[in-house]
Amino acid sequence: MSKVDAIYIHIPFCNYICAYCDFCKIFYNKEYVNKYLEALNKEIKSNYKGEKITSLYIGGGTPSSLSIDELEKLFHIITIFNLSTDCEITFEANPDSLSLDKINLLKKYGVNRVSLGVETINDKLQDVLERRTSKEIVINCVNDLKQVGITNINVDLIYAITGETLEDLNKDLNFILSLDVPHISTYSLIIEDNTKLKVNNVKNIDKSLDRKMYDMISSILKDNSYIHYEISNFSKDGYWSKHNLKYWYNLEYYGFGCSASGYVNNIRYTNTRSITNYIKGKTIIDKEILTTKDKIFYEIMLGFRTNMGINKNNFKNKYNINIEDIFNYKLLVKDHILEETTIYLRVREEYFYVLDEVILKFLETLQTNVSFDIMD
Ligand SMILES: C[S@@+](CC[C@H](N)C(=O)[O-])C[C@H]1O[C@@H](n2cnc3c(N)ncnc32)[C@H](O)[C@@H]1O
Ligand code: SF4
Repeated sequence: MSKVDAIYIHIPFCNYICAYCDFCKIFYNKEYVNKYLEALNKEIKSNYKGEKITSLYIGGGTPSSLSIDELEKLFHIITIFNLSTDCEITFEANPDSLSLDKINLLKKYGVNRVSLGVETINDKLQDVLERRTSKEIVINCVNDLKQVGITNINVDLIYAITGETLEDLNKDLNFILSLDVPHISTYSLIIEDNTKLKVNNVKNIDKSLDRKMYDMISSILKDNSYIHYEISNFSKDGYWSKHNLKYWYNLEYYGFGCSASGYVNNIRYTNTRSITNYIKGKTIIDKEILTTKDKIFYEIMLGFRTNMGINKNNFKNKYNINIEDIFNYKLLVKDHILEETTIYLRVREEYFYVLDEVILKFLETLQTNVSFDIMD
C-alpha cells in the first residue's frame, strides 16, 4: 500500500462559465453528469487501495451545481474510502447553487469544510469576470452553513481585476470580513490563455497597483487576526487547510476525475482534460517518475510557499542529507530574504510577493559537487 492519505476529486460542471476561468469544466448537463459519475466510480475502484484518508477535497468546476440526487450518487461512490475519524472533508461551492437542502445533505455525509467562490461582490467587477452573485445570496449561504453546523468555511476572493481600485478592494475585503469565516483565499486575477478575457484582449492592472493590493490584503487580514500562512491564504489559528498543506509539504495524494493530478508512489500523474475521453476510460495522459533531485526541487518550490517554510529535520529524515549540504543559501539568509532557525528555513513574508524569483535564486545556489545519482 502507498503512503497516500489525501484525495482530490474533480467535478467539472458549472451553471455558468466565467470569462477568466481556465479550469476543466463544462456547462452542467444531466446526461454528462451521469456518465461522468460512472467513469469516476470506475477510476476510483481500480486505483484506490484502501489507504486511511485524513483529507478529502471535492473541487471543480462547481460541485454544488450537481442536483441532490447526483450528490447522493457522488457520496455513495466515496463511501469506499477508509476515512479517519478526524478526516477533513472539503466541498467547493458557489453560493448561488448551494441551497439549504444541499447543505443538509453535505452535513449528512460528513462534509466539515466548505470553500465558497465569492470573488467580488462589486457589480462593475462582476461584469468583467462575467459572473453574478449578490451580498444577500452570500450572507444567506454562510448563515445556512453555520446554522447546519458547517463552520469551517473558506471564501475565495479575486483581486486586481481590470478596472479595480484600492477602494473597491477595501469594500470587498470588508464584506468578506463581515461574514466572519475562519479562512480566506485571495488570488490576483490571471488572464489565462484560451479564456474569454484573453480573446477580448483584456489587460491586467498595473504591476505596482497589484503589489499595493497584495500588501493591503495582507495588512487588513492580519489586523483582523488572520494568519498569512501561505502566499495566497489566510486563516484563523488552527483553521489552515489540511488538504492544501499536504500539497505544500510535498506529500502524496490521489487525484481522481478529469484534469486531476496526483502523486502516488513517487509518480506525479495528470488526468486528461477531455471529459469525453475521461468518460471513455482514457484517464491518465501524463506521468512523471520523480528522481530524488526532482523531489528535492518540489520540496523547495512548494515548501517555501508557506510561513513554516522547510522543516530542516524532516528534510534530513526524508533525503538523508542536510539541506545546507545541497544548497549554499547562507547569503540569502544574510540578506534577510530567508529566515533560518534551528528547525526551519523560510522565506520572509515581505518576499512572498516575489516568491518565484526567490526560489530561482535559491535553486541557483545548488552546490556543484552534489551527486543525486547516489541518492536515487
Ligand atoms: C475551481 S475555482 C472555483 C470554484 C467555484 N466554481 C467558483 O467559481 O467559485 C477555484 C478558485 O480559483 C480562483 N481562480 C480561478 N481562475 C482564476 C484566475 N484566472 N485568476 C485568479 N484566480 C482564479 C478563484 O478564486 C476560484 O474561486
Ligand atoms: S470560475 Fe468557477 S463557476 Fe466560473 S467557470 Fe470556473 S469553475 Fe465554473
